[in-house]
Amino acid sequence: MLIVGNWKMFKTGLETASFCTELARRVDGLDGVDVVVCPAYTSLDEAVDALGGTSIAVYAQNAHWDAEGAYTGEVSAPMLAELGVTGSLVAHSERRQLFAETDESAARRIDGLLGAGLSVIACVGETERERDEGRTEEVLERQVSAIAAAVPPEERGRLVIAYEPVWAIGTGATASPDQAQSAHAFIHRLLQVPVLYGGSVKPDNARALLEQGDVDGALVGGASLDVESFGLICETAARIPS
Ligand code: PGA
Repeated sequence: MLIVGNWKMFKTGLETASFCTELARRVDGLDGVDVVVCPAYTSLDEAVDALGGTSIAVYAQNAHWDAEGAYTGEVSAPMLAELGVTGSLVAHSERRQLFAETDESAARRIDGLLGAGLSVIACVGETERERDEGRTEEVLERQVSAIAAAVPPEERGRLVIAYEPVWAIGTGATASPDQAQSAHAFIHRLLQVPVLYGGSVKPDNARALLEQGDVDGALVGGASLDVESFGLICETAARIPS
């Protein structure tokens, strides 16, 4: 199982340092689960410092596709690698919806990250409207194919997909375990890499979601901001046989 905390634009460097120290006390070395945190760019250094020598990895939330260039405000994969960051999220639905991320730009970012030796968690998911129109599988197929095309077979060991139905992110409306299972099984038929579920995962619904056969872990937003609830989700995952 893989449990990933996406902190979005929350936590300063100081808050990150104390959170990471506490998190490590609780979940470092826990058997049966790999844990990743994704702080904001400004807190990555503190996270890498606090988690150095532990089993918990630090990923970014995004990265530019070029290694360097005249791109005001952007950060590249080699810059992240130099900090000790070992991977990044790509194409989170907030990037797709608020920052004009497309399948094409996502593919370029993935290429940049892999080229710098980093791992990738690429996000996919349908909106409420697409689900209501019965287009969930069509949307997932388009998004997953674009990601797969950017990752040659020999690099697939560094790719994870996160299925995050857009209507379930930050809304408290979780996909039912059955809905998650069927979307994950569909994605697994397209691409044989681990698939995380994301969208209002909390300590009280984590078990039912993670127990589904095609759910390989979780991408956790809101509930990852609190050590107690994130620790509980990690411990729940560790108890589920893979
Ligand atoms: P949420 O966010 O757990 O707060 O719904 C998940 C995500 O955006 O990755």
